[in-house]
Amino acid sequence: MPSVETIEHDIVVLGTGIAGLRAAIEVKRKYGDKLDVGLISKIHILRSHSVSAEGGTAAVLYPEEGDSFALHAWDTIKGSDFLADQDAVWLFVKLMPEEIRLLEHWGLPWSRRPDGRIAQRPFGGHSHPRATFAADKTGFYEMQTLYNKLLEYDGWERYDEWYITNIVVEDGAYKGLYAINMRDGNLYYFKSKAAIIAMGGGGRLYNFTTYAHTVTGDSYGTALRAGIPVKDPEFIQFHPTGLVPSGILITEGARGEGGYLLNNKGERFMLRKDCAPTKGELAPRDIVSRCEMKEILEGRGFKDPVSGLEYVLLDLRHLGEKKINDRLPAVREIAIRYAGVDPVEEPIPVRPVAHYTMGGIHTDKYYRVLDEDGRWIRGLFAAGEAAAASVHGANRLGSNSTAECLTSGKLTGMLAAEYALRLRDAPSAPRERHAQEEDWVWGLLRRESGIPSYQIRNELKKTMGENFYVFRTGDGIRAALSKIVELRRLFREKVYIEDKSKVYNTDLQAALEAANMLDAALAAVSAGLQRTESRGAHYRLDYPKRDDEHWLKHTLVLKDGLDSVRITYTPVAVTTWKPVERKY
Ligand code: FUM
Repeated sequence: MPSVETIEHDIVVLGTGIAGLRAAIEVKRKYGDKLDVGLISKIHILRSHSVSAEGGTAAVLYPEEGDSFALHAWDTIKGSDFLADQDAVWLFVKLMPEEIRLLEHWGLPWSRRPDGRIAQRPFGGHSHPRATFAADKTGFYEMQTLYNKLLEYDGWERYDEWYITNIVVEDGAYKGLYAINMRDGNLYYFKSKAAIIAMGGGGRLYNFTTYAHTVTGDSYGTALRAGIPVKDPEFIQFHPTGLVPSGILITEGARGEGGYLLNNKGERFMLRKDCAPTKGELAPRDIVSRCEMKEILEGRGFKDPVSGLEYVLLDLRHLGEKKINDRLPAVREIAIRYAGVDPVEEPIPVRPVAHYTMGGIHTDKYYRVLDEDGRWIRGLFAAGEAAAASVHGANRLGSNSTAECLTSGKLTGMLAAEYALRLRDAPSAPRERHAQEEDWVWGLLRRESGIPSYQIRNELKKTMGENFYVFRTGDGIRAALSKIVELRRLFREKVYIEDKSKVYNTDLQAALEAANMLDAALAAVSAGLQRTESRGAHYRLDYPKRDDEHWLKHTLVLKDGLDSVRITYTPVAVTTWKPVERKY
């Protein structure tokens, strides 16, 4: 038996969150048995982090009530601090309503209005209530519905608990991927005509994060190592309401339903002139998070005596128990269980929390993966948070993420299928590539002593939290960069995997994930150091202004050597609205 066995499918989907499942469904519903699909995930499908999405999915459903595609597009572009590609945003908003209706037909129990129609709630930065929701468990129901829909089809195979180690790109085309089957501990080569990368973002680069422990920047790491550019990685979203001390998400839907943010003087600081007097708590996330941090840094916050974390308060008491139970049951349960606070009676302690990576794999508006010269890497697509099309630019509006998972899933499923149908044979990686991969993966097991990968991960998260959080400075970013380079060396020279067994070697998986985290962090911090302006979520105290003359452009990061990256830039598609000052 060859040491690396080959598994073949027409299309493989990497990652099984909302984007991955939606992509697989699109292949199956359009092309049925003509194409078979492999779905690869390092965890059970329904444990993908998308299940944790809470507050809603944006779409224009009621134009007769004043909403419109133009309004949704404008809100998204203004929210993005004008870094979004406007053609990508238009496509996104136009595709969305059908996605909500499809999910409705496939059985999703959307929350309803009294008249029985689908309900929508306000969300930050949106000028119309357009977050479609299922109480505050929207992602959970979306995942259940998509999974259930997928079960109606034949001709797809799941690879749960398979860890993807690398993808292969050569001569401008996708040529397969390598994955470890955690159950038998062997390395396999997946050959396919097309692939859709949907492995999410990199929230676990931080300690204080809304993300599951599984979200370790795998999309970034695999892309960078394959020579694919990562776009705009410096833009990392800090959601304003992470529960203290755990970081669990308290949905923006809580403010959408009328919740207030309060400082230690009992003031609704968001209404102040220097924050967002018009939108208040429903300003975009970058602005709310900065205002919260200002309260905290100027002594108007609170301090958790155990964790030492400082925070402000989210007050829902005035909503009343019935509304909280009806619209925000998970918020209540989470606050009681993880902070010992019943929001019916007491305000919830919250602070900005790492929540989303606006950047991702460089794609066009159809989510075809591009090289640095803007050419499609044939056969390769990216969807969901893994991709940067760029719909979100420098700051994503809440409820646009699950929405983009759906639209990008649909587009990539459709385009990957059309491409696969045109191709006679799936391309192969050269044989010597198998040996290289074995060397990399099993080489990690050879060391007999050293440092466990969790120590490297912990130090990485610490430096990211200290130096690359809501407010940044050149000195802080440089400190983070030199720490990351030091940790990368440590990883190469000393990382030690104590568990030498084959079956379910999670120690090995953790080390491979740490390598992805180190790649993702290097890209983000290097790009942030270069960008000497403040835009959206990238706020530099030493360059506090947006600088359109020099920086209205996307960053592209390519791996270049062991611990360095090469950075180039590509224009923003400004097709409808010229950038203006953002006021809320
Ligand atoms: O607050 C939330 O429910 C998060 C939604 C989102 O990130 O889109």
